[in-house]
Amino acid sequence: MSNLPPSPPFVPAKPSGETVTLTEDATGKSFKMNMINGSVGPKVIDISKLYAETGHFTFDPGFTSTGSCESKITFIDGEKGILLHRGYAIEDLATKSDFMEVAFLLQHGELPTAPQKTEFVKHITYHTMVHEQLMKFYSGFRRDAHPMAVMTGVVGALSAFYHDSLDINDPVQREISMHRLIAKMPTIAAMAYKYSVGQPFVYPKNELSYTENFLNMTFSVPAEPYKINPILAKAMDRIFILHADHEQNASTSTVRLAGSSGANPFACIASGIASLWGAAHGGANEAVLTMLAEIGSVANIPNCIARAKDKSDNFRLMGFGHRVYKNFDPRATIMRQTCHEVLSDLGVKDPLLDIAMELEKIALQDDYFVTRKLYPNVDFYSGIILRAMGFPTKMFTPLFALARTTGWVAHWAEMLSDPTQKIGRPRQLYTGAPQRSFVALASRK
Ligand code: SDX
Repeated sequence: MSNLPPSPPFVPAKPSGETVTLTEDATGKSFKMNMINGSVGPKVIDISKLYAETGHFTFDPGFTSTGSCESKITFIDGEKGILLHRGYAIEDLATKSDFMEVAFLLQHGELPTAPQKTEFVKHITYHTMVHEQLMKFYSGFRRDAHPMAVMTGVVGALSAFYHDSLDINDPVQREISMHRLIAKMPTIAAMAYKYSVGQPFVYPKNELSYTENFLNMTFSVPAEPYKINPILAKAMDRIFILHADHEQNASTSTVRLAGSSGANPFACIASGIASLWGAAHGGANEAVLTMLAEIGSVANIPNCIARAKDKSDNFRLMGFGHRVYKNFDPRATIMRQTCHEVLSDLGVKDPLLDIAMELEKIALQDDYFVTRKLYPNVDFYSGIILRAMGFPTKMFTPLFALARTTGWVAHWAEMLSDPTQKIGRPRQLYTGAPQRSFVALASRK
């Protein structure tokens, strides 16, 4: 076990004493349910006994009104555009902290002291290498394989290498697995990039910071020295912070559900990577760049807006809208600022940024977007910065997965430490065929 403080024991919130009564009109029967208060944000109605008492399920496809768990990690107020990690505002963390501190905060509940930070960073640094055999996995992929396909396969395969840290009931093994996952994601992502461009893999260097190490493994080549650009390193670290965690989003919920069955942590994180890949989720950053390139010029923006509003066209304005934020995504605001800083520091003039700025301006004046409260989200500007930094579009979502691993492992550990935790097993509204007799082949018409 490291000398790091153990994560605080998870103490579930208790019913507040307030209740809600549900009355079935057809029978007049009433059912009383307890309410539980959050420390901030909406109260919940505990419906866990509803089926046992009423024989009915609730119905909430997409979980728009359903709390799937109790958590103390991240709070989002979608109406006000607030994002807190363990109570700290994302604006403060993105401008005053660094990614290793945020990773520690998500996992341990507090910002690290200087000795704790040194200890945590040491553990992460010394787990950045991958098993030499793991490198052979890459040669099984086509060079043009999407790096998210590579990440899903290689991260899932980690469970075949680390048999000494698969016992999820052993806190020591849980901690080692979390450190390994946080530490190895940059190495695995950088290797996916190197493989795609036919360059040799670059080993981690322990004297570099987490983010510098990732840039070196991605962009250095054996033929010449590589100088870390401090502007890029700082921007990369901030982008990692902005992507670290986001409450019970689709990929984090996937990790929790996989973990609830007792699956090993590497398999759980691989399931999160797979879920994040979708264009409606983490794949949106790649889709934004493709969309901006397709728009091609400011003159074409009205046509794109019209398509986004046309219900017969499944085109959506990628990087806009959010299930929770009905105001600006605070990460998008910080990302836009960072975008301007990085491009001007690098002296890069990217016409896609001009298109993005104009698209945002027009959309935010258009009634369709205003009435539906569709604002730019975290993915709208991130791709423009990453492109300026030299990353190909296909690497954008792997970078999102790299950063979100810190949130995924924190939620995985929290789920396991919750004494009320049980395997996730949602039910359904069944509207298929009622039971019927089998029809022999000869009798089928
Ligand atoms: C992320 O959940 C998280 O926290 C995710 C994330 C994280 O950090 O983990 O924040 C990361 O995934 C950000 C979102 C990235 N996705 C995109 O940018 C893809 C484009 N956006 C959408 O597909 C959409 O906005 C979602 C998926 C993000 C949210 O979809 P919802 O909440 O299910 O909203 P909806 O589909 O019910 O839309 C409500 C209305 C609909 O119109 P009406 O039926 O009311 O007429 O808004 C429209 C939608 O058609 N709409 C859009 C739109 N998004 C919603 N119309 C055009 N362009 C869009 N982008």
